[in-house]
Amino acid sequence: MIAHSKPSIAEADVARVAAVVRSGQLAQGPEVAGLERDLATRLHVDAAAVVSSGTAALELALRALHVGAGHEVLIPTYVCDALHHAVTRCGARPVLVDADPVTLSLSAKDAEARVTARTGAVIVPHAFGLAVDLAPFVALGVPVIEDCAQALGADVDGRPAGAAGALAVCSFYATKMIAAGEGGAVVGPAALVARVREARDYDEREPLAPRMNAKLTDMQAALARSQLARLDAFVARRRAIAARYRERLAHGECRVPGDAGRRHVYHRFVVGLERDPAGVQAALAARGVAARRPVFRPAHRALGLEGYPEAERLWSTALSIPCYPALADTEVDQVADALLAAVRR
Ligand SMILES: Cc1ncc(COP(=O)(O)O)c(C=O)c1O
Repeated sequence: MIAHSKPSIAEADVARVAAVVRSGQLAQGPEVAGLERDLATRLHVDAAAVVSSGTAALELALRALHVGAGHEVLIPTYVCDALHHAVTRCGARPVLVDADPVTLSLSAKDAEARVTARTGAVIVPHAFGLAVDLAPFVALGVPVIEDCAQALGADVDGRPAGAAGALAVCSFYATKMIAAGEGGAVVGPAALVARVREARDYDEREPLAPRMNAKLTDMQAALARSQLARLDAFVARRRAIAARYRERLAHGECRVPGDAGRRHVYHRFVVGLERDPAGVQAALAARGVAARRPVFRPAHRALGLEGYPEAERLWSTALSIPCYPALADTEVDQVADALLAAVRR
């Protein structure tokens, strides 16, 4: 079976983690501090605070911006549930925004229609690795949190994605652009990032009030640093795979993502079908290829809300096929052939 996603682990990664384990310094320490420096340099931002996951990063970014009870936060409906959880954990109310058919992130026009005096922030994901233009969201006049969970390594007009909002978040989950098993970060201006560093820990702090432990271990940070050093090679390989898919699928019956002026790093290669993805997914599985719906289920469906036509359309036509650096060209061809056969049927 060709897996839907798989991390690229090299001997150098293993050696870096082993060295940390041998050192006995397992918990947050110099590797976490080193990862924070590496990320800030890579993303052209003042500072980074490394935390335990992308979801924790979103929650702590919102808290750093003083978003809480009485606020609304604009988020896409067509996205993983992490955003909804982060907003509700802060005590704020998520306001769902319909999808943009081109970027597959949230629609700036629909976001504008849903802004109120209570809007405390908007979370803008660079969905599936495509860096979106932040300008229309900045124009909403509320703090923008850039969600780079799927887009580490992407550029917008020569600037790394993650440097244009009030804050940005990253994820180092096992399937992401760089993998540490779990992990995340908040990046941006030093004063806001300092609030995240303060909030991720509970030890020896006054007063005794609700706090959390959202720290990353040095073992994970060492793996993330080792992977970050290879990010450019990962992005190049993902782009080469995408180009090969585009060529192989050019005359088939599914829509394929363009490279959007090299803004796309292809965390996911999402194809648009003319039919229900479940049938195609089953046909691919029968030919040894694991494919997934790119979003499990849009949030508006879980909440019984209506008025999200574009997200509905995406949910009922989009399918994510394997795309990761460890995929061999022969496997890319096998996936493409299986997809062509499945959509032809
Ligand atoms: C766009 C987006 N934001 C946030 C997250 C949450 O990241 P994590 O799984 O590290 O909590 C994910 C995870 O899939 C994601 O895709």
